[in-house]
Amino acid sequence: MKKAYIDSRWGKADSTHDPNLLANFKPRPSDILITTAPKAGTTWMQQILHQLRSGGDSNFDSIDEVVPWLELPRDGKSCSQVLEEFDQLIEPRIFKTHCTYQQTPGGVECAKIILSSRDPRDCCVSFYHHLLDFTDEARSRMGIPLPNSFDEYVNDWLNNGVWYRNIKSWWPYHDHPNLLWLRYEDMKNEFEASINQILNFLQWQLSAVQRERVLEYCSFAWMKQNVSKFAMQMNNKPVFKPGGFIRKGLIGDHKHLMTHEQEEKILAKTKVELPREALNYLEISVN
Ligand code: A3P
Repeated sequence: MKKAYIDSRWGKADSTHDPNLLANFKPRPSDILITTAPKAGTTWMQQILHQLRSGGDSNFDSIDEVVPWLELPRDGKSCSQVLEEFDQLIEPRIFKTHCTYQQTPGGVECAKIILSSRDPRDCCVSFYHHLLDFTDEARSRMGIPLPNSFDEYVNDWLNNGVWYRNIKSWWPYHDHPNLLWLRYEDMKNEFEASINQILNFLQWQLSAVQRERVLEYCSFAWMKQNVSKFAMQMNNKPVFKPGGFIRKGLIGDHKHLMTHEQEEKILAKTKVELPREALNYLEISVN
């Protein structure tokens, strides 16, 4: 069968990115997309939105079933099978994505978008632990190498540049009425205020009982205790070692692992890549 041409705007295919899915996905105005750079609180936001939509639900098996990852290739499933499954999801559909703005079907003109950003240094350290947490089987199946050293890993993270690509591509839309930009750090410090912002943005309401349930189920403690609901699976097999994924959930955790030089490299690139207004908004101070 002749392979259909896919526009390069949808990105290159890899083990977590299927451009075919993006090119053929039909966004609905009622859709909600969570967009993040990896390790910026994506799973937390999946849980928050699922809990807000349901008024508090602890009976789901896997967060990825109720809030799927939009561009993730599924082993043994064709693109049209995955898209059919997306069609069957309850409304409003909620998806997670790590796509740049340009790769996001419909962009801000179609769906409601919630972006969670996090300090790049904490995202970098969190992703390091994420890499160490893969099971050996998933590592070899997905072709993910073990980092030789933390220093080498930081350089690779910088060269890969996914944090920078994500934030840079979305920043021009930060004021758009269909985009709500939340910072992980604010969610940690003032969780209820962040919940109120999301409710306001989506025009949703909660009863007092529902609110209590949402606060409990979205707490770090509850998610850690129920980690099997949040750790990704492929072909019904765990991708991560037991306990991984919901790790520490702290602001500034990079201080425990990163040297001053490594931090400076990350900040220097942040300064080059982002406009001053974005740095101020993210409260990233660079000299
Ligand atoms: P750490 O590795 O710093 O602990 P993502 O879901 O985008 O992969 O992000 C994972 C990060 O979010 C991890 O950070 C994880 O611990 C943190 N996280 C997950 N659930 C959380 C929660 N309820 N509260 C705070 N942080 C949470």
